[in-house]
Amino acid sequence: MPSYSYLFLAILLITTTTLPPPPAEAGGGEWQLMQKSIGIVAMHMQLLHTDRVLIFDRTDFGLSNISLPHGRCRHDPREIAVKTDCTAHSVEYDVPSNTFRALFIQSNVWCSSASVAADGILVQTGGYNDGEKAVRTFTPCPTCDWNELPDQLAARRWYATNHKLPDGRQIIVGGRRQFNYEFHPKTNANAKNAYSLPFLVQTNDLNEENNLYPFVFLNIDGNLFIFANNRAILFDYSKNNVVRTFPNIPGGDPRCYPSSGSAVLLPLKPKFLEAEILVCGGAPRGAFKEAKSGNKFIKALNTCARVKITDPNPEWVVEKMPRGRVMSDMVLLPNGNVLIINGAGSGSAGWENGRDPVLNPYVYNPDAPTGSRFEILKPSKIPRMYHSSAILVRDGRVLVAGSNPHVGYNFSNVMFPTELSLEAFSPPYLEPGLRNVRPVIVSPTGSGTKVRYGEKLKVRFGVEALVKDLVRVTVLAPPFSTHSFSMNQRMLVLEGSSVTNMGGPTTTYEVEVTTPGSPVLAPPGFYLLFVVHKDVPSEGIWIQIL
Ligand SMILES: *[C@@H]1O[C@H](CO)[C@@H](O)[C@H](O)[C@H]1NC(C)=O
Ligand SMILES: *[C@@H]1O[C@H](CO)[C@@H](O)[C@H](O)[C@H]1NC(C)=O
Repeated sequence: MPSYSYLFLAILLITTTTLPPPPAEAGGGEWQLMQKSIGIVAMHMQLLHTDRVLIFDRTDFGLSNISLPHGRCRHDPREIAVKTDCTAHSVEYDVPSNTFRALFIQSNVWCSSASVAADGILVQTGGYNDGEKAVRTFTPCPTCDWNELPDQLAARRWYATNHKLPDGRQIIVGGRRQFNYEFHPKTNANAKNAYSLPFLVQTNDLNEENNLYPFVFLNIDGNLFIFANNRAILFDYSKNNVVRTFPNIPGGDPRCYPSSGSAVLLPLKPKFLEAEILVCGGAPRGAFKEAKSGNKFIKALNTCARVKITDPNPEWVVEKMPRGRVMSDMVLLPNGNVLIINGAGSGSAGWENGRDPVLNPYVYNPDAPTGSRFEILKPSKIPRMYHSSAILVRDGRVLVAGSNPHVGYNFSNVMFPTELSLEAFSPPYLEPGLRNVRPVIVSPTGSGTKVRYGEKLKVRFGVEALVKDLVRVTVLAPPFSTHSFSMNQRMLVLEGSSVTNMGGPTTTYEVEVTTPGSPVLAPPGFYLLFVVHKDVPSEGIWIQIL
């Protein structure tokens, strides 16, 4: 580590003393290289309420670039690559101190899924080989490590999607050759059932699938919106009943793995009567096969499609992105905008299948007039395609890491070397020039203020130049990010009173908000709460809704 920072400092000194200062860049955000290497590929990432990020890769590609602590090694006779492996395949990154530590995983977590439970414990499910039916938990604490429960699932879950339910359980939908779903935990010791879901058979393309890592969201009516391939259903999971079938997405091209587009539930707004889904990018049908067997890399889809899922006669509305992208991540920002980041301009997901990295993030403003919703932001220098991920952290930055299109780690003689670095993207709202409009939350203080459903909560904040009507309070469920999809990503704009001036020597204000009215609107657990003023967010505070 020290050698890197000296090197970095040296480069910095050289560049600052020998080159003229770069022109002042207004707008577009900023990129920061936080770690040259975290030792592993960030295939999966989740922010925990300790401001630490749990990151994991897979166990069966060979050795990683970080050793397990205390001379520990993993012995696994069922492992495919290395049966005795003294390297780590998971790390925990501490955001405030910009440090990380190695964690120990026994069985294979490759292409798996997870949710954070109501108590803040991450519950991960499935993977590959000896890990395909395992459930693993991670309790957030500075010295905690993974805890593994083998053989907990009814079916093998590889490329499945998880979603938290209002009762605190999670549902696990699909996975490779699994046309069914199950719950975790089970209601009783004997209930190990998987329930059949024919929709996943209907959306399974021959040789290409295109229905893996389906986009699953909890609708405000308690049903699940499930999108796979090029279409969606509204699904009552308690009765195993399709409530509504949505029209196919216009154009008919697939949006799910390996034609990986992405999707978000747009911020839910008072009075919580409507919900909208936005699906962006993907690859034309056949792109996977062409890349794999024909060495042809087809241009990615340049469309987003938006649908009101609460509408009894829903219609997709199509919008054009500035250019096509596949394998991009969609990240909800504290101000309700959607960041589209990472990905490729052609090809598809899968080994060696991506080309033409897209380095510019886009921001999509769902409330702007049609035709002026996209803004192109400052590019990164590092391609992040297959097996990369992106998540928002409490201070409003977006962490991006990973990218590895190869079967093992490969740093030389390849077009896109395995990427072990971790970067932070600061969206334009973090620019120093906005200091006088940026709110700072004064209270509640401390982490994890507990609130109940439908409760009044007074939020105090300071801001230099207030425009009272332009204050909003948002809460965000930090998602589990993998393979271009963020599971459980959910934002609510809270109902609030008008802003009152608290007087005093500094300019302090108070707004009284109502917490979400039910666990259907916001399943129990940890959320980040932000005060947003003129579209500029404060740092978040953690609240626990129970
Ligand atoms: C990872 O380790 C390999 C083998 O020791 C080395 O060649 C490579 O440069 C390392 N990569 C990074 C990014 O640290
Ligand atoms: C990396 O990929 C190149 C090109 O396919 C191959 O020649 C080389 O053996 C690979 N290296 C490793 C360490 O797998």
